[in-house]
Amino acid sequence: MTDPLAPRPEHKFTFGLWTVGWQARDPFGDPSRPALDPVETVQRLAELGAYGVTFHDDDVVPFGSGDRDREEHLKRFRAALDEAGLRVPMVTTNLFTHPVFKEGAFTANDRDVRRFALRKVMRNLDLAAELGAETYVFWGGREGAEVDVAKDVRAALDRYREAIDFLASYVKDRGYGIRFALEPKPNEPRGDIFLPTVGHALAFISMLEHEDMVGVNPEVGHEQMSNLNFVHAAAQALWHDKLFHIDLNGQHGPKFDQDLVFGHGDLLSAFALVDLLEAGGYDGPRHFDYKPLRTEAFDGVWASAAANMRTYLLLKERASAFRSDPDVQEALASAGVPELSLPTLGDGETAARLLSDPAAFENFDADAKSRRSHGATRLDQLALEHLLGAR
Ligand code: GCO
Ligand code: MN
Ligand code: MN
Repeated sequence: MTDPLAPRPEHKFTFGLWTVGWQARDPFGDPSRPALDPVETVQRLAELGAYGVTFHDDDVVPFGSGDRDREEHLKRFRAALDEAGLRVPMVTTNLFTHPVFKEGAFTANDRDVRRFALRKVMRNLDLAAELGAETYVFWGGREGAEVDVAKDVRAALDRYREAIDFLASYVKDRGYGIRFALEPKPNEPRGDIFLPTVGHALAFISMLEHEDMVGVNPEVGHEQMSNLNFVHAAAQALWHDKLFHIDLNGQHGPKFDQDLVFGHGDLLSAFALVDLLEAGGYDGPRHFDYKPLRTEAFDGVWASAAANMRTYLLLKERASAFRSDPDVQEALASAGVPELSLPTLGDGETAARLLSDPAAFENFDADAKSRRSHGATRLDQLALEHLLGAR
């Protein structure tokens, strides 16, 4: 029998090259680990059971490389992917490390920088298509400001929309099978980043010409930095049919972006998230965007990569035990959870019909109704007991 807790390619676990490859440089300290060769990362992740890798252009080809050097780097990388059998389901652009982007990329006040940013993305979109990527992520880390009067926010949103629509039409013209996913984050590295939450991103997408091919790539810790409920954010993105990709990691409440291993933050929320993704029809990659702790050497790096996948599979197993427990089903029914799926109005019911239903108002006993107990605490405890392996 296959071990249900052993990661396998069909689980669609993916990692950014920049995650395990993070050298642990922080604002206060130098790197605590040497650089990792992307070729080694590909081999190691495949051995651990991952399905694919993702990358920023500069993770594989150093910034500023000419065409010849670029081809050399790509040749090695492609060969490593082929040998390991790893896929590249998502690709993204680094529009934040080089100081040329210090004031923004698509929304920089300087038009030359904006035009350079577009070209940098177009070059990498061609590569993404060649590697068979289905999703292209836009994380606008430098799109924002520290000083309100130093940026015209409405003009910045015009330029953001111009960039995304232009690149979307480029993808369509070339016939690439790629969709875009915008990744919200409230702050860091900018004091305030545009499209700070999933809700802002969804509203922005509705204003795009090519909104059909643009969705979101929400990250657990980013919503939690804003003190928002990540499960609700992912559920709403699914409801809009816009959950194109997801960044899984851990975070302890509103503070700097911790990028912990998935589940090593709010564990009950991670449990509900896996329950949602597994039952809610999300079939995209389970992408880990985390940082191995700065305290770890390479043994700890690979242990943390494995921990992300094992935690996901443990939560998946726990969520399925929760769902199939008859006590849980009974508690869900008594809490009225399935009843919420019943439409509030009858089939074709008009305002006149509702107005003529005395049970809905005239005879409705609000005091009696308000005495109903919903048993949410019992459900929470049942979830917790399944999570702890006590049931
Ligand atoms: C962060 C972001 C990034 C993006 C990545 C892909 O907070 O640093 O999560 O890791 O996900 O740049 O676009
Ligand atoms: Mn993050
Ligand atoms: Mn991310």
